[in-house]
Amino acid sequence: MSAEMKTKILPISACDEAISHLFEGGVIALPTETVYGLAARFDKPDAVKKIFSIKQRPSDNPLIVHISSLSMLTRLAVDISPLFFQLAEAFFPGPLTIILPKAPFVPSIITAGSNTIAVRMPSHLGAKKIIEKVGIPIAAPSANLSGKPSPTTAKDVEEDLNHLIPYIIDGGECEHGIESTVVDLSGREPALLRPGAITRASIEKVLQRPVSSISNAPSPGTKYRHYSPNARIRLCYTQEDWIKLYASPEDKIFLHQKGEGLFFNEKNLYSLFREADRKACKEIVVFCSDEVCANEALFNRLQKAASL
Ligand code: TXA
Ligand code: MG
Repeated sequence: MSAEMKTKILPISACDEAISHLFEGGVIALPTETVYGLAARFDKPDAVKKIFSIKQRPSDNPLIVHISSLSMLTRLAVDISPLFFQLAEAFFPGPLTIILPKAPFVPSIITAGSNTIAVRMPSHLGAKKIIEKVGIPIAAPSANLSGKPSPTTAKDVEEDLNHLIPYIIDGGECEHGIESTVVDLSGREPALLRPGAITRASIEKVLQRPVSSISNAPSPGTKYRHYSPNARIRLCYTQEDWIKLYASPEDKIFLHQKGEGLFFNEKNLYSLFREADRKACKEIVVFCSDEVCANEALFNRLQKAASL
């Protein structure tokens, strides 16, 4: 891709040229209800290769494949567990990704050589329309540069990928703001690989069994630095620590759900991270109340962001 490439931001109502580009083997950014994705046809290895180079993503980190109907599954997965259909019935379309044994035809670049595949059916109407129009499952990781927070607006995508992709489809601010829940159904027992908007409790309720975090196929992405702004994240658990830090506010921003500071939740966390970086702030202090710690998805992202 040339450095002079112009990136067009198009609304869903007038994005046909972007959809054609995707159909013809190009890479575009598109909205979903979780975060924006960097999309290519799953059956075009050269296009998928571009996703990895644009994002600077390590090639051993596999991609999620997005579908608009269950009939697309036949090209992607085999030996599908009956548990899959229970989860699909309850949560598709929506922010849930399921790992299944992969079909032989799936290019190995998508699955990073593993014999499983991650599948998700987004509920965002724009995403649904795009996948339906292309008519082929779409591979898409989050549309950020590797290591940056996932983008939750078209502007966020532009901040990371301007001049690197020809099109960003603008579907507004993402409804959830953090990535999908990832459940592994490729092993003997279901396992939660990444907490997200669909909670562990609601998955356990549908499957009528406990879902552990222990999987025989640990999510390769978990070993990489993730969700991190440049600013250091400091998690603060007591009122005493908070007051001490709040007394010297230079180069810091403060996030709190109930007290002084900026309000945060899953939906705006990544945009606050990006905002802090734009202001070249050095530290983001986050008050972790019992409620925050009990919110598995939110607390997971905070801990990951704080761990490096
Ligand atoms: O909400 C989302 O899931 C967004 C939107 C765009 O759909 N996508 C997303 O993709 O967050 P990405 O690539 O940033 O995260 C995908 C995660 C990674 O941690 C990856 O390692 C894991 O899913 N994953 C993908 N395929 C896998 C597989 N076959 N087995 C285990 N984990 C897998
Ligand atoms: Mg990502």
